[in-house]
Formats: sequence, structure tokens, C-alpha cells
Amino acid sequence: MMNKEKNIQEIINHLKSAGFVFQGSEIYGGLANTWDYGPLGSLLAKNLKDFWWKEFIIKEPNNFAVDTKILMNPKVWEASGHVANFSDPLIENKLNNKRYRADHIVEQLFPEIDIKNMSNLDLENFIKENVKEYDNSKTDWSSIRQFHLMFETQQGVVVDKKDLIYLRPETAQGIFVNFKNVQRATRAKLPFGVGQIGKSFRNEVTPGNFIFRTREFEQMELEIFSYPEQSFDIYKKYLEKVWNFLLKLGIKEKSIRLREHQKEELAHYSQATSDIEFLFPFGWGELLGVAHRGDFDLKSHMLHSKENLEYLDPETNKKIIPHVIEPSIGMDRLLLALIVDSYENEKLENDDTRIVLKLNKELAPYKVAILPLVKKLSKNADDIFQFLVNNNISATYDETGSIGKRYRRQDSFGTFYCITVDYETLNDNKITIRNRDTMKQERIDIDQILNYIK
Ligand code: GAP
Repeated sequence: MMNKEKNIQEIINHLKSAGFVFQGSEIYGGLANTWDYGPLGSLLAKNLKDFWWKEFIIKEPNNFAVDTKILMNPKVWEASGHVANFSDPLIENKLNNKRYRADHIVEQLFPEIDIKNMSNLDLENFIKENVKEYDNSKTDWSSIRQFHLMFETQQGVVVDKKDLIYLRPETAQGIFVNFKNVQRATRAKLPFGVGQIGKSFRNEVTPGNFIFRTREFEQMELEIFSYPEQSFDIYKKYLEKVWNFLLKLGIKEKSIRLREHQKEELAHYSQATSDIEFLFPFGWGELLGVAHRGDFDLKSHMLHSKENLEYLDPETNKKIIPHVIEPSIGMDRLLLALIVDSYENEKLENDDTRIVLKLNKELAPYKVAILPLVKKLSKNADDIFQFLVNNNISATYDETGSIGKRYRRQDSFGTFYCITVDYETLNDNKITIRNRDTMKQERIDIDQILNYIK
């Protein structure tokens, strides 16, 4: 099933022209699957991260933040299991020289087949036998090899095998290696959470679908450390919390669904995992995951680092290894979902249309646009603009073009209110304020603007 009402190419074109998302390195012909956030996209991303921060860190007294580095000791990735396990089955079509995820090919063409128990050799034989044409090309398949997803680089001036380090493929490990530091510094008692927002890198075999799957992306991750016996309740609590978080952001309930992983598809560290999927224009796709990681990470880091990462229970005086629940959200993927969900090409009266981004007020890049009716009123309009930004209201200013066109432009940015300053304003100290969604206008006192907006 696809969200066919929403045309992804139309949305991408709008995002570019409005200044949300640009092709990365565009003037050099781009770099495949890299995207830059423009003036509006970077504001939207910041608002989204602030929203997550408020819900998962600020409002939870026993949750704390860290900001750890992308580059870590390579032993971290041995302990985490990434060096051994973080790879995908890659198959190449020798006739068009393109590489694909073998599992994705079978999932896409034969959704009725359960591939979970198929070995790479099974997959390879199946594809060779059954997929004679793919991606608009006849096929001559290579054998499957496991393709490692971690980006490698070297540290230091002399390039040497010993200097090999990785760009982190998840932010979570920066939290696990600091478990003891955070617990000591905060004196937190179980259960407590540690979260962060940051970049992760994966050399994906098949990046694509715009910003859905890229090789550089941002994650918002939280690790909740708990007593083993309370861990499944916390897992359920956070599943509910992330669901409600999506609704609070303004995502429509009909656009999301819960999918629990079956035993065979669980990651090497996981005791249970559930994804929340979103109905993208290209079909249902994973938006975020909540995983029960058990004691895998702390135990493994204890083994590899030889440091004691146990928690001394103040009640019983016994040492235990906490269990971990992890809600992990891809910021860019969530941003795409929010845009897809809020993008409307609306038919108006008189055969007119408008593009409108019906973003939640807190997420809208600009809450308010100040629009003087004529340039002569720009000083008065600028005073209102300065007043609002000094009161932490994100505002923009536009004095060119007809007022109708300026309204349409702001609607397409998702700007929640437009304020028009006209000649009457000079007499009655009032402005006209227009609501993006209802398009209703009201005349209010300048002194009332802040109350009205808040
Ligand atoms: N620490 C657990 C972890 O990283 P994951 O399911 O691999 O789990 C979590 O990733 C989330 O990160 C995903 O649900 C998705 O939102 C986002 N994500 C993963 N790979 C991505 C990629 N290549 N591009 C964009 N977002 C990605």
C-alpha cells in the first residue's frame, strides 16, 4: 500500500524551491544520496530536535543528556558486535554493474516468501533461478557477499593499519561507554535514561527514497537503564510514549502502525523490538524502533574494556548489570514523514489552489510572517518583527509582491500566522492576523499579538 495522494517528486520540488532541502554538492553535479537542509529545513530540523529534547530529556526528571563523539576507540565496535555483524548481503548484476541488497530484491518481488531462515546461498540460488529481469535490465547475478556498513577512516598523520577507526553507525555506543560516568556524576538511581542527538554514518548498499535512507543521518536516541524485572514494563511504557510523541508532533494516526519483530529477525543484541512504520509515498517504511537490548551492551563492554560497569543497588547492596530499553529515532526520516503528512495541495474557491504545509505550530519554521501592505509601512512592520523575535517567536518579514501571493508563499512554508500592517494601523494601533489553516482573519490590538500567538 502506498500513500498515493502524495506525489514524492512534487514534494521534493517544493522543498527545493522553498529552501527546505537541496541536493548535496549540487553545483558539482551532486554527490549521490546526500541532501543539505536550507534555511527552512534547518529551522524545521532544529524545532524537531528541540521537541524531542523537551519530551524525552527535560520533562523526564530521571533522564539525562550527553553529547559524545563520532570517533571512538575501535574496540567499542568490536564489543558492540558491529565489526562482526554489521553487514548486508550484496549481490551485483553484471549486466548493468549495479549492486543491490539481495534480501530486498526477494522481499520486493516475492513478498509471500519468508526469507528469515534463508542463508546467503539460499538467497543467491533463489535469485539466480527466479529473477531474470530486474531494474529494467536482463540479469547475470554475481554470488552474494556480505558488505560491511561501517565507514572506515584513519586517525593521525601516518597512515597505518593500526590507525584504522570508524565513523559511528549509531549514537547509542557513546552512551553505553559513559554509563558509569553519568551514573556517578548524577548519582541517578535505576531506572534512569541517557539520551543524545547526533550524526551517524552507514555505508548503505542501497540508499535512496530521498532523505529516507542516506549514508549520513542524524539520530535521536535514548537508553533507559533499569532493573531486569522492570525492563519489559519500561519497554511498553516507551512504546506508548513514542507513539504519543508522534501524535503530539501532529502525525495522523492513520499514517502510522506498530510492527513487532519476530524472533528470527531480532538484531544480535535484542530480546524484543517493535518498529513504528509510516505510510510514505513509496509504501510503509520503518520510522523508528524501540528495542529491549537486555544486558548485552554493558556486559560486552565490561568484557572488552575490563572495566566494571555494574550498578550497586542501594537497597540490597548487590551489584547488578542493568537492562536497557532503547527508543531510537532517525531525525531525517521523521522530518520527511512530517512533511509528507502535512503537505496539502488544496483546492480553494474560484478554482484557485494553494500548497500548504500544515505543520504543528511548534514545528513550523516561522510562527509568524510580518507583511506590511506597502513599503511606506516597513518601519512599523519592522518594529513588530523586532518585538516578536526579542520574545523568542520565530518570525520572518516580506514586503514584496501582492498580499495574496505573499500569503500563499507563507502557507507553502508552513508559517502559522501572517500579520498585515496597513494604513489603519497608524490610526487604531491594530493589525490583521491570519491563520494558516482556516485562512480566517482577525483584527487585533498590537499589544495583544504576543498573547494571541502564544
Ligand atoms: N541504536 C539502534 C539503531 O541504530 P536502527 O534501527 O539501526 O537502530 C534507528 O536505527 C533509526 O535510525 C531507524 O529507525 C531510522 O529512523 C534511522 N536510520 C537508520 N538507518 C538510517 C539511514 N541509513 N538513513 C536515515 N535514517 C536511518
